[in-house]
Amino acid sequence: MKTTTGYSGLQIGLHWLIAILIVTAWFTGEGAEEAMEVVEEGGAAGFVPHVAIGLAILALVVVRVLVRLGRGAPAAPGEPGSLSVMAADWGHRLIYLLMIAVPLGGISVFFLGLDVGEVHGLAANLLMLVVLGHALMALYHQYVLKDGLLRRMMRAE
Ligand code: HEM
Repeated sequence: MKTTTGYSGLQIGLHWLIAILIVTAWFTGEGAEEAMEVVEEGGAAGFVPHVAIGLAILALVVVRVLVRLGRGAPAAPGEPGSLSVMAADWGHRLIYLLMIAVPLGGISVFFLGLDVGEVHGLAANLLMLVVLGHALMALYHQYVLKDGLLRRMMRAE
């Protein structure tokens, strides 16, 4: 993948929009569980905000991955090959993997009727944990190491 000096406006916009949607999807999961109970009792699910938000996340993540593959992204801060850079790179890969796997799990439950609701919920909790760690590391860089890392996700280059 190409290494750039900064993120584009589109990459920054997608990052924050997806971040907001992931938190919203996590808090609306219970509504989807209730909708599934209605379906199991023979009723219609109707419009489920959680499903719409989850599908939007999947679509936006696909766009984000394509933009990243085409344009590239700046390298993680630190010595190339160091433990901290490898941890950042693998952490980001895990977030991308979960941002795709969690919605696919939701689709399997809602549209395909597979009994994987619990796995979907657990994977969503794991995604939230990794995202929380990701946010804490960003704040650590910004306010403890004072290397201006957070600015990269605020100002386009
Ligand atoms: C990143 C995106 C998503 C996140 C963070 C997320 C998160 C969650 C959470 C936290 C729950 C509650 C699980 C529990 O308490 O056990 C849940 C349930 C559910 N979600 Fe998602 N979800 C996402 C995407 C989707 C998508 C795309 C769909 C469908 C197209 C979907 C459909 C459902 C359904 C049907 C349930 C109820 C499962 C059941 O009761 O068996 N989710 N989700």
